[in-house]
Amino acid sequence: MESLIAVVNKLQDAFAASGLTSNPIDLPQIAVIGSQSSGKSSVLENIVGRDFLPRGTGIVTRRPLVLQLINRPATSTKKEGEAGSEPTSDKASNQDEWGEFLHRPGEKFFDFNKIRDEIVADTELKTGKNAGISPLPIGLRIFSPHVLTLTLIDLPGLTKVPVGDQPRDIERQIREMLLKFIMKPNSIILAVTAANTDLANSDGLKMARECDPEGTRTIGVLTKVDLMDQGTDVVDILAGRIIPLRLGYVPVVNRGQRDIDQKRPIAAALEHEKQFFENHSSYRSKASYCGTPYLTRRLNTILMHHIKATLPDIKQKISSNLTKYEQELASLGGPQGEGSNSNVILQIITEFCAEFRTAIDGNSGDLSL
Ligand code: GDP
Ligand code: NA
Ligand code: MG
Repeated sequence: MESLIAVVNKLQDAFAASGLTSNPIDLPQIAVIGSQSSGKSSVLENIVGRDFLPRGTGIVTRRPLVLQLINRPATSTKKEGEAGSEPTSDKASNQDEWGEFLHRPGEKFFDFNKIRDEIVADTELKTGKNAGISPLPIGLRIFSPHVLTLTLIDLPGLTKVPVGDQPRDIERQIREMLLKFIMKPNSIILAVTAANTDLANSDGLKMARECDPEGTRTIGVLTKVDLMDQGTDVVDILAGRIIPLRLGYVPVVNRGQRDIDQKRPIAAALEHEKQFFENHSSYRSKASYCGTPYLTRRLNTILMHHIKATLPDIKQKISSNLTKYEQELASLGGPQGEGSNSNVILQIITEFCAEFRTAIDGNSGDLSL
């Protein structure tokens, strides 16, 4: 299944690169919604396991970020004579993990701080410095041996009162921006709610319910569990006794603002999260169903189920597209000259269709999960 998801991601890329405004193949992806500062970017960053997203109090995420995680095995090998010279791990992992922006093709960002800088710079380029927003997405791919192959979308938070250069109808504009991503029947909604706020008032859950009334593609994430009042917990929510969700809730503990200011490493934060759930009297007995690693596994399973369910439809769409392109190609009198942009795109799509067919046929016998 991993290879199938990888092909799906490549196909999505090909269509994005082709400049087609409407993606002819509606692929599954995971979108994060919730109130401003509920911890959406923090959750995404923890899932990726690297520091690279702008986070903080106030409106930090001001454009959609389409984040493709691509699992890629480590390729760096120790040269002879280096065998005993530990530690090489830092260098090695830097070579094996990098980011690429769609708006800066061919440029590899090995320094994840530079990725964050580029997100901020391109956000400011399109929206100014004064809290402005824009629906124009930033495309970022992260290649790494340490991620599951997933497409995630970080989105601006739901907010009601305009500040800075924000339009008067900020609430409506952000809602429309989010709707574009979450109303697709095959998008998976990560509805983030801070555990120290009232679940009944959760903007993320409310919006998720509008788009997914059956709750078949909404997963609840409860952040800031560490900031809850003494003696309160999310056990009733997890048990589905408050607002039941078919796919359930996962409680997490992200880094607080002080951790961000002090640049607390992500590994230390994940260890702290683990300790928190294992040592808390309310969560000790269910600690394996709490925290970021469980959320990541859960997401991958949901995504695979989702792809499996939509495979026949995707296959049908690809094969009718392929037929259409083949006919177009034939009517143009076969392959065009080297410089022909549309011809290059046709070739890319045709190649991916073939690859995708192989992947489906190759997996058709073992699609059980
Ligand atoms: P977003 O606006 O929803 O993307 O939220 P951010 O990820 O930018 O986080 C907003 C603020 O909440 C930051 O200061 C984070 O440090 C803080 N925060 C997020 N999640 C948690 C958490 O689980 N615990 C604590 N203590 N702080 C958190
Ligand atoms: Na924020
Ligand atoms: Mg954010």
